[in-house]
Amino acid sequence: MKLFNEYSLRTMTLKNRLVMAPMCMYQVVKEDGLATDFHFAHYVSRAIGQVGLIIVEATGVTPNGRITDKDLGLWNDSQIEPLKRIVDAVHEQGSKIAIQLSHAGRKSMTKNCEHFAPSVLESNQNYMPYKEMSKEEIHEIITDFKEAAIRADKAGFDGIELHGAHGYLLHEFLSPLSNQRSDEFGKDRNLFLKELLNEIHSVWPREKELWIRVSATDYHENGLKPQDVINTLLEVKDQLDLVHVSSGGVISTKIPLKDGYQLDLAKEIKEKVGLPTIGVGLINDPNLFISALEDDYCDLVASGRELLRNPFIMLEMLKTNDLSDKIPFSYYRAYK
Ligand SMILES: Cc1cc2nc3c(=O)[nH]c(=O)nc-3n(C[C@H](O)[C@H](O)[C@H](O)COP(=O)(O)O)c2cc1C
Repeated sequence: MKLFNEYSLRTMTLKNRLVMAPMCMYQVVKEDGLATDFHFAHYVSRAIGQVGLIIVEATGVTPNGRITDKDLGLWNDSQIEPLKRIVDAVHEQGSKIAIQLSHAGRKSMTKNCEHFAPSVLESNQNYMPYKEMSKEEIHEIITDFKEAAIRADKAGFDGIELHGAHGYLLHEFLSPLSNQRSDEFGKDRNLFLKELLNEIHSVWPREKELWIRVSATDYHENGLKPQDVINTLLEVKDQLDLVHVSSGGVISTKIPLKDGYQLDLAKEIKEKVGLPTIGVGLINDPNLFISALEDDYCDLVASGRELLRNPFIMLEMLKTNDLSDKIPFSYYRAYK
């Protein structure tokens, strides 16, 4: 079964196809963006649990790019070492690890910071006060992402996931609901992404992977539809290795939830863009992990909350499928 077998991306080989979805843990102690012992235990335990690819939570490229003051950051060099400690320990367990680089845009709730977005909208949806970004600020943020990418490389990460989903800054540029600029960044809503990818590729090693998490629909008649997101991805396809397919977040609206509710979107993007995809969203049942891959909805399958509930779900699935030999020997007796 695909779930339990090795899978190779352009350069990175994973021991299996289970991914830990990025999840903010709000566990930074001194609002300094530094990873703590909590983060070490949290991520390394999932590696012991044989998750093939771990994606570290949304990590701010600037202090005001964090969602909260308790989020991780990668805007200065002191933040490299505690992340490297996690990366090294995850590698010791044979798993790969990526970091989600993020700027929260108008959704940032950090205190004592100025907030901004592509456009200031009439309906502010209870966000903190924010202003429209100048072109200079747009270029500064792109440089901040680039510098964070250099630090991510120094920390030893195997991949970068750009957070282009859930209504944060990159998604705010892509969506017509949140980008109402009249300059070139509004006339071509993909321009921010294109410039970002160019700059990151200028520093991110070719032998490492780079991908994006997208919201494949805004669930709104005037917002992004799957075909719009596909068109964007086709424009930048050569600069991406993978697409992590999520949905929603730029405006608050009711999302039709059911098990595996975003898998159809992952399949459509996989087929029409021709890049591998990560499927995610209410995939809790082992049978769904397996069938999402066997039925070609996606190439990798990610879990968020189920891996919070059960870091060792992979060990249970290995046992159930007569693959106990893949369980680490220290834990083997628990699964005999
Ligand atoms: C506590 C928590 C924190 C999250 N933080 C992030 C994040 O940092 N970046 C992100 O892209 N999505 C984030 N998400 C969304 C998850 O990555 C995932 O897409 C979502 O939970 C659906 O998957 P699930 O049903 O397997 O949990 C978060 C979700 C949870 C529950």
